[in-house]
Amino acid sequence: MSAAHPSTLPRWRAGRAATWRFFDETLMPGAYKARPIALRHPFVFYEGHLAAFAAIKLLREALGRPPLDEALEKLFERGIDPPAEGGAPPLTAWPRRETVTAYVRRADAAVEEALFSGALDGEAQRAAVHTVIEHELMHQETLRYMLHRLPCADKRAPAESVAPALPDRLAQPAAVRVPAGVATLGAARGEIPFGWDNEFPRTCRMVPAFTIDALPVTNGDFLEFVEAGGYTDSSLWAVGDEEWLRSHGVAHPAFWTRDRGAWLWIGQFGLLPLPLSWPVWVSHAEASAYARWRRRRLPTEAEYHRAAFGTPEGPERALPWGGAEPSPERGNFGADRDDPLPAGSRPAGASAWGVHELVGNGWEWTATPFGPFEGFAPMSTYPQYSADFFDGRHFVLTGASPATPAPLVRRTFRNWFQARYPYVYAKFRCVHP
Ligand SMILES: [Fe+2]
Repeated sequence: MSAAHPSTLPRWRAGRAATWRFFDETLMPGAYKARPIALRHPFVFYEGHLAAFAAIKLLREALGRPPLDEALEKLFERGIDPPAEGGAPPLTAWPRRETVTAYVRRADAAVEEALFSGALDGEAQRAAVHTVIEHELMHQETLRYMLHRLPCADKRAPAESVAPALPDRLAQPAAVRVPAGVATLGAARGEIPFGWDNEFPRTCRMVPAFTIDALPVTNGDFLEFVEAGGYTDSSLWAVGDEEWLRSHGVAHPAFWTRDRGAWLWIGQFGLLPLPLSWPVWVSHAEASAYARWRRRRLPTEAEYHRAAFGTPEGPERALPWGGAEPSPERGNFGADRDDPLPAGSRPAGASAWGVHELVGNGWEWTATPFGPFEGFAPMSTYPQYSADFFDGRHFVLTGASPATPAPLVRRTFRNWFQARYPYVYAKFRCVHP
């Protein structure tokens, strides 16, 4: 029996262990079928989905084996991202946890055996293994922001959880001029060990000079917009946004609440007085309205790349700070912290132009609708992954959030959400006229 590729088995095991810990330790049993976000399935789906996705991709599709459980693999095959709430199956239709975990244990054992045996060591199979490993890491962030919507009684802070960093200073607003130049988006096929289909091929964009905030917009900045009546000024909102504000009662960011006249931050494990120096986490619709109010705009995806990876000397960097591996001193990512840090807390992660925290402390909204680079081809291991979302309703996010596992931090990684999805850990900054 030959050993699996040295890096994939431990990486897959580490991802599974983190998911098990979430369901066994962090999420309280009574919340297993809770569905805190109506645009997503309940938690139970994700426990089944992560195991079923691996079984489908690795055992069925890569190795041609029969399903382990046809009905459960159909139920757990794919998540949802509808444009509006409604039409979801009732919670009673989901299986009990014992049924799900029995399936998950069978699937894990079969995948472990396949990985260990070397049966998945061929080039096409290796791509499927990478797909499964990154899919799990991405959904661990899904689970964290869903957990954020639950009351504290439904969750338990992991032992290694880091207490929130209370603001110690206010961010100093400053803007940086980035000269015209070329931004390289994406990668050539074969250039990186693994990328999703939307990261290919390498694409060069000429970017005119622009002026961009050196720091993300903070809660303190956004409070001015809220108090100036920004949520009720129709001139600031895109078509359809006002209906969303009205029907959902949206009058402030989803991570804020108000108690006896005081604004509070909804932390993962408790409320805090609103930390004015933390980046504000909002939807694309709210970020865009704020930018209009300031007579500014969101950066395009190409401008983000120019601000993050461009240099005065010309050659682009692998990451904003250079070629060093992602580490906690350079950005708030890696899933060891639940909340943001005060904006500007990681100067070692600044780009060559002095633009801070382009990676970490919250994904970064761009003005660019999610779409393919010229020459895009759907990935054979998961052809629906990106193509189903090239619909003009989703916008590109870049960088990383505190809940993003470090292996997903790379220059070419692209995230996307609908404009009125306020639950994700997403910040923004503005480009000045
Ligand atoms: Fe998924």
